[in-house]
Amino acid sequence: MNTYLTSLLFLVPIFLLLSRTRRYSKRIPPGSLGIPLIGQSLGFLLALHTNTAEKWLEDRIRKYGPVSKLSILGKPTVFIHGQAANKFVFHNNSSILANQQPESFAKILGDRNLMEVSAPDHKRIREALVSFLKPESLKQYVGKADEEVRKHIEIYWKGKQVVTVLPVMKILTFDIICSLLFGFEQGKQRYQFLYSFQEMLNGFWAIPINLSFTQYNRGLRESVRAQKLVKELVQEKRVLLEKKGASPRQDLITFLVSMHDEDGKPVLTEKEIVQNVVLSLLGGYETSATLELAVSEAVLQEPQEIAKSKNSGESLTWADLAKMKYTWRVAMETLRMVPPVFGSFRKALTDTEYNGYLIPKG
Ligand code: HEM
Ligand SMILES: *[C@@H]1O[C@H](CO)[C@@H](O)[C@H](O)[C@H]1NC(C)=O
Ligand SMILES: *[C@@H]1O[C@H](CO)[C@@H](O)[C@H](O)[C@H]1NC(C)=O
Ligand SMILES: *[C@@H]1O[C@H](CO)[C@@H](O)[C@H](O)[C@H]1NC(C)=O
Repeated sequence: MNTYLTSLLFLVPIFLLLSRTRRYSKRIPPGSLGIPLIGQSLGFLLALHTNTAEKWLEDRIRKYGPVSKLSILGKPTVFIHGQAANKFVFHNNSSILANQQPESFAKILGDRNLMEVSAPDHKRIREALVSFLKPESLKQYVGKADEEVRKHIEIYWKGKQVVTVLPVMKILTFDIICSLLFGFEQGKQRYQFLYSFQEMLNGFWAIPINLSFTQYNRGLRESVRAQKLVKELVQEKRVLLEKKGASPRQDLITFLVSMHDEDGKPVLTEKEIVQNVVLSLLGGYETSATLELAVSEAVLQEPQEIAKSKNSGESLTWADLAKMKYTWRVAMETLRMVPPVFGSFRKALTDTEYNGYLIPKG
């Protein structure tokens, strides 16, 4: 009896393992899941910190092809690459792939941000954000962005022999986004917010172990501070709006606070506004800064001609931007050659087939 039980205890797990392997063996993607929990995370994070993530991914593609499995940031993951992969992810249907980022993203950014929620919440939040962020609406903020650029040049460029461009481009992008999205004026609080925001970013790309001395823990702590600050801003904007001291379109926060459905109910909750405004800052921050850097190196002539046509102190307009056709083409080509976003995450909701391989549910 005893022997029987023991052998049963051993047999059951082996059987499960075999039956899983048999069901999947031929078609699951190549690659190893590495050591449990850690998997390939250390190698990947090291590559990120030494700015060689692209090479790291290219090496994988060379070794395994455009579809492979690995374990990253605590989850077994299938990595897919190339044009067909982008089409598969971005044209597919939310009953097959759901928005879900690694757990550390959700913990730091919150569970009501657009990258975590699925339909119909995704549609509602996305439509609200996009009705402010679409080009026809952003047109009217060119002057405001120009003002931030002028202040920036005074502070970070004027009189300097050498400027390290990428870090100051990040500060510039941060300042422009703070002004347009948050209606958050320059000052001490804004620098506190920049610090918290940068620590949140560092927390995303850290081993997700929450001990008082880890980078991940610092990201979590700074996220609490940043969200508290944005929440206070939301409440300030709400008061201003009610007193008719603000126009709904003056910044993204005021705009989202002002949105109501036919029954007079707010379209987004306060938590959704806070998390998605921070997400938009995140979405615009490193992406745009990288692009600005590449373009500023490649083109000078067109912007100089526009500058010559203006009186000193006169603001840049949307029409001026539309004249810079060559600059625009350089920007588009730069995005094609050096995409600032190297990847994203989704969760498979069912067993899914891609390129002849099975991506198991989860
Ligand atoms: C050159 C600059 C930019 C690039 C290359 C870029 C790239 C991307 C990519 C690839 C995604 C899809 C991510 C995914 O679905 O997994 C995305 C989503 C998003 N981006 Fe950007 N982005 C840029 C600038 C911005 C800016 C300036 C903002 C806002 C101020 C922004 C806000 C967002 C938001 C809110 C989403 C989520 C949309 C959704 O889930 O439907 N992005 N971006
Ligand atoms: C979406 O997913 C299904 C099921 O895996 C697949 O058959 C289809 O080709 C995908 N669509 C695109 C546009 O890749
Ligand atoms: C998504 O796929 C499911 C199952 O294949 C289908 O029932 C549904 O109509 C599709 N939805 C869209 C918007 O394509
Ligand atoms: C991380 O640890 C801190 C204590 O240092 C705790 O307050 C916080 O709730 C933890 N967060 C998560 C997401 O585990």
